[in-house]
Amino acid sequence: MKRTDPLVERYTSSIGVDYRLARYDVLGSIAHAQMLGKCRIIRAAESRRLVAGLTRILRAVEAGRWRPDPRAEDIHTQIQQWLTRLVGPAARTLHTARSRNDQVALDLRLYCREAVAELSARIRELQRSLVRIAAAHRRAVIPGYTHLQRAQPVLLAHHLLAYVEMLERDQERLRDARKRIDVLPLGAGALAGTSLPIDRRDVAKRLGFPRVAENSIDAVSDRDFALELLSALAILGVHLSRLAEDGVLWTTEEFGILALDDAVATGSSLMPQKKNPDVFELVRGQAGIVIGELTALLAVLKGLPLSYNRDLQWDKRCVFGAVEISLDALAALALVLRHAQVRTARLPALLVSDALCATDLAEHLVERGVAFADAHGVVGRVVSYAEQRGKRLRDLSLDELRRFSGRFDRQALARLDPERSVERKRSLGSTSPAEVARALARWQRQLGIRYQSGHGI
Ligand code: ARG
Repeated sequence: MKRTDPLVERYTSSIGVDYRLARYDVLGSIAHAQMLGKCRIIRAAESRRLVAGLTRILRAVEAGRWRPDPRAEDIHTQIQQWLTRLVGPAARTLHTARSRNDQVALDLRLYCREAVAELSARIRELQRSLVRIAAAHRRAVIPGYTHLQRAQPVLLAHHLLAYVEMLERDQERLRDARKRIDVLPLGAGALAGTSLPIDRRDVAKRLGFPRVAENSIDAVSDRDFALELLSALAILGVHLSRLAEDGVLWTTEEFGILALDDAVATGSSLMPQKKNPDVFELVRGQAGIVIGELTALLAVLKGLPLSYNRDLQWDKRCVFGAVEISLDALAALALVLRHAQVRTARLPALLVSDALCATDLAEHLVERGVAFADAHGVVGRVVSYAEQRGKRLRDLSLDELRRFSGRFDRQALARLDPERSVERKRSLGSTSPAEVARALARWQRQLGIRYQSGHGI
């Protein structure tokens, strides 16, 4: 047999990426070795030796006392060689009834399972940061936008809580993905199972998997669980990107809703006055990368015949890449939000144009029996009339209003106040202070934030 060409060795090697699986690889091997002993497939003494050696490796890995070996083909080979140095020939029994195909599928599932827990904890932190800002400014009114045009007054807290809702759906998607991550592939062997009397349920129990993959061919070929995690991360990435985009807009002088502390903004190398929201921008851009990882893995998988194919080695690059930058983005956004101030003094200036309350004026007419479409037309004409005269709506007299509809009465002008506008909302889930207070209380309870008194509405 010829020696493998060094170029092929280098090209096929994955240690540079899959070293991240070290801990999971060892944990999987410990469970496997224990089961082999228990089922008397290897001798009890061998099983104990394997477990002792693997436990030493686990400690070293967890303490960071190890380096990926660039000469090893992948993490499985490196740990196997390491174990051989520690326990000698007993190490040769570890790979009984196991293939790297089911082994790597297991490792990746263990990694994904922990990733979900970590991601979920960080999403929660970000949700908390948003809820804290919302709670501290529960009375603040800002213009709400559609088409990026000023639309209707809303509570700043309501806007922020929209993101908390979005993030909660991300949490649900992760929890759901976890159900299908939590399936044990080990015991599938290369693809066909084994003639040795293994006990897959025993391994599943040791590793905390509620289910065992039912089909050995599927077990080594399936990467749906990775796709589901990546899909959840792509959607999360899109949410973070939208939050970041609002952050970019809100920190402009034009919007002026948020100011960033120097600790989380960066300067320009040229313009001395600049303070840039780079974290927001990087997070916004990053969604593109995560979407790319999902698309990449879909494309890797789409034409693969059953069962395992080496193409699958690329799955890890996609998963690690997406998980790592998502974790970073969540941490960075939460930090930036902790260092952001709402420019409360600025907010009234954003509300001077009272066309923002035009819909309230139309609803005033509806309450007085005018069909909404007619009210819409009337107020539209009132708005152009005021615009032509360079006036705000509230500068019009009741007489002027009544030229457009006899149903306007003295209460009409009071409807042009943005604070009143939000206060008068009454529908479930609206921006009314009462609904927002209810939502805030619910989130504070759900996210374990203690209620802060002194911010009553
Ligand atoms: N590095 C491989 C992967 O990531 C491990 C499995 C290799 N299996 C094999 N038969 N060569 O998929």
